[in-house]
Amino acid sequence: MRWILFFGALIGSGICGREKFFGDQVFRINVRNGEEICKLTRLVNSDNLKLNFWKSPSTLGRPVDVLVPSISLRPVKSFLKSQDLAYSVTIKDLQALLDNEDEEMRHNEGQERGGGDFNYGAYHSLEAIYHEMDNIATDFPDLASRMQIGHSFENRPIYVLKFSTGGGERRPAVWLNAGIHSREWISQATAIWTARKIVSDYQKDPAVTSILEKLDIFLLPVANPDGYVYTHTQNRMWRKTRSLYPGSHCVGTDPNRNWNASFAGEGASNNPCSEVYHGPHANSEVEVKSVVDFIQKHGNFKSFIDLHSYSQLLMYPYGYSIKKAPDAEELDDVARSAAKALASHSGTEYHVGPTCTTVYPASGSSIDWAYDNGIKYAFTFELRDTGHYGFLLPASQIIPTAEETWLGLKTIMEHVRDNLY
Ligand SMILES: *[C@@H]1O[C@H](CO)[C@@H](O)[C@H](O)[C@H]1NC(C)=O
Ligand SMILES: [Zn+2]
Repeated sequence: MRWILFFGALIGSGICGREKFFGDQVFRINVRNGEEICKLTRLVNSDNLKLNFWKSPSTLGRPVDVLVPSISLRPVKSFLKSQDLAYSVTIKDLQALLDNEDEEMRHNEGQERGGGDFNYGAYHSLEAIYHEMDNIATDFPDLASRMQIGHSFENRPIYVLKFSTGGGERRPAVWLNAGIHSREWISQATAIWTARKIVSDYQKDPAVTSILEKLDIFLLPVANPDGYVYTHTQNRMWRKTRSLYPGSHCVGTDPNRNWNASFAGEGASNNPCSEVYHGPHANSEVEVKSVVDFIQKHGNFKSFIDLHSYSQLLMYPYGYSIKKAPDAEELDDVARSAAKALASHSGTEYHVGPTCTTVYPASGSSIDWAYDNGIKYAFTFELRDTGHYGFLLPASQIIPTAEETWLGLKTIMEHVRDNLY
């Protein structure tokens, strides 16, 4: 009995919990041409070194960020030297950052349990986010409601907040999507902040009021709930879903390669162990299928905006090909205005362009699917930062990030409001 209690306490306290990253580093590597990208990609994909792209090689030759486990530091350094590839270390000890983040979260959870309000400047568990969604709906019953649109592979509910001032079931609408990649925590945190911002500013900020007089807003803060829980309990760096299919022992599909838009094309992998595995077929991920079914049944979405991190980019279709979207000029103008509004908050600079030529080819992505299904105003944000902390953006940056992003989102939604089609 005592032993059971003891092990129970160990698991409960998280000592046996998440994967550790002691001494693991993030390298920023400069690649100058296709040949170097090719060599580096082969290195990262070699199974024995357990490397992981944080920022993949891109069309425009930005530097690449790679997570290097401590045991692979020596071989990777000597490889880079032998290939004459310049690099710097952006994160010296990943575990130190994780410990910080974890301690801040625990401290905040203690305060919230002690009766404090939801702290928008902290990272939260899935349960806490779901609870706060419920609070928002309860506080503003005439404006917000929490709806379940489906369930995840591991059977967790998928909740959306709907903001509506009336106008019938099929009022033109905006879909705000976040957290499709679970380790991009600033995305879920920005989304829940945005939910509170919408209800607080309605009838105070004329822009918000006028947007909501014409448009409904649907906000999905955690599009990949299983992955998100996994980042809290097992591995902070998890990106994919947690689905498992016969014929492979590797878990998870990249839910942003799983949409029915040039599915299984360039920039996705058919290897179930890959971080960009597209899944066995389009919409195989129930998390993706739930959104697709909801949007198709609704039938009147005009905008789809997906929040990711990191890199400070604002992109529009296409990702699956270098072909130009018929509305490219308009989307580019809107994105540039949004990036300008965003930068007016505290100077954060964003790059703007179509996904494929701005970063890399990516087939089966959410915004390409939206765009090809008649949702013209389709955008992807890659939020802060540019790699100093990468996915481990300190909680002190949540509110500044959410505030500046809001200015960008509002610019897009005002354009949608004024250009309904
Ligand atoms: C994907 O879209 C095509 C039309 O572009 C359609 O024929 C096909 O049934 C769709 N597949 C799925 C899985 O929805
Ligand atoms: Zn992402």
